[in-house]
Amino acid sequence: MSLILQDIGRRVGRKWILRHLQLEVANGECLALLGPSGCGKSTTLRLIAGLDLADEGSILIDGQDVSKVAAVDRRIGMVFQSYALFPHLTVAANLCLGLRVRGISAAEQQHRVASVLALMQLEEFADRRPAQLSGGQRQRVALARALLRDPLVYLLDEPMSNLDAQLREDLRPELRRLILNGNQPVVYVTHDQHEAMAMADRIAVLRDGQLEQIGTPQELYLKPSTIFVASFIGRPQINLLPAQSGIVTAIRPEDVHLSEEGISCRIIDIEWLGTSQLCLLDSPKGKLRMLCNSQIKIPENVKVKWSSEKEHHFNSESGHRIN
Ligand SMILES: Nc1ncnc2c1ncn2[C@@H]1O[C@H](COP(=O)(O)OP(=O)(O)OP(=O)(O)O)[C@@H](O)[C@H]1O
Ligand SMILES: [Mg+2]
Repeated sequence: MSLILQDIGRRVGRKWILRHLQLEVANGECLALLGPSGCGKSTTLRLIAGLDLADEGSILIDGQDVSKVAAVDRRIGMVFQSYALFPHLTVAANLCLGLRVRGISAAEQQHRVASVLALMQLEEFADRRPAQLSGGQRQRVALARALLRDPLVYLLDEPMSNLDAQLREDLRPELRRLILNGNQPVVYVTHDQHEAMAMADRIAVLRDGQLEQIGTPQELYLKPSTIFVASFIGRPQINLLPAQSGIVTAIRPEDVHLSEEGISCRIIDIEWLGTSQLCLLDSPKGKLRMLCNSQIKIPENVKVKWSSEKEHHFNSESGHRIN
C-alpha cells in the first residue's frame, strides 16, 4: 500500500492554494505535513480524501488512480481538525453510522464498535453525546471512528490540537500503537514542529501552498534547505545573523556556548526551561538566543562562541542554503 500525489494543484477562483505538490508516502510510513496556518495542509488532506477535487495532477492509492473516485469509495480513515462528530448522536451511534452506511449487519456493528470502544478505553462513554465529553475523550472518539473504517490510508488533521499538553503526551504513544505502527500510509497534519518531529518518519514543510522541503526530522534540523525551514524547525528558534555580502548566517541556540575566547555579550533576558535556560543576549551581531546550563544572571556580561561547522549559510535574496 502506498499513497502518491503527482503534481497536485488546487485552485479557488483564480488563486492557486496548492501548486505542484509531489508526495509519496510508503506503507506504514507517517508523513507529517507541517506549515503555518493557511499554507494548505487541510486542503491537501481534503484532496486525498476526495472531499474536494484537484484541478491538476493525480492521486494514487495502492497504484490505482483515485482522482475521480468518490470520497465514500476511497476507504480513507480521516480525523478532522474539528472532530466532525454528530452532536445529537451518542458516542456509540456516531461510531455505528459509518458501518451502517456500508451495509454491515447490526450484530456485526455492535461487535466492532464494542471492541474499538474497549481499545480506546471509551466503554463508559458509549451512551453520552459529544457535548458531554472532554476534549480528549472526543478526540479519542474521532480516532475510534477512523479505526473502524479499516482504511487503506489514514489522514489525521491536527488530531491533538484541542488537547492540553498533558493529554497530548498521554495520547502520543496510543496514536503510535494504533495507527502509526500499522500497515497504512499516514498523513499527519500539524503546525507544531515538536509534534511533527515526535510522530513522523518524514516531514514535508509547506509554505503558501508549495512544498518547501521534505526529509526526515534529522535532515530538516541538521540541513534545512531554506531560511524558512531553518526558522520553522527547532525550538528555541535558530538565530539569524545580519546578512553580510549576500549571505545570511544562522546558528542554533544549542550550538552557542559560553567561552572565554568568545565575543562579549550582555544577558538581557532568561527563561527557565527545566533542564536548561534560554538566554537572550545583546551581542555585536545583534540579539542572540543561547541555551545554557550554567548559573548566570541578568545583566551579567558573558563571552560566547560557536563552532563555524555549526553555522548554516543561506543566500539572503533567495533564502536558499549555500553550503
Ligand atoms: N473553499 C475555499 N475558498 C477560498 N479559499 C480557501 C478555501 N479553502 C481553503 N482556502 C484558502 O486556502 C488556504 C489553505 O487553507 P487550508 O485550510 O488548507 O490551510 P491549513 O494549512 O490547513 O491552515 P490551518 O493550520 O489554519 O488549519 C488558506 O489561505 C485558505 O483561506
Ligand atoms: Mg487546517
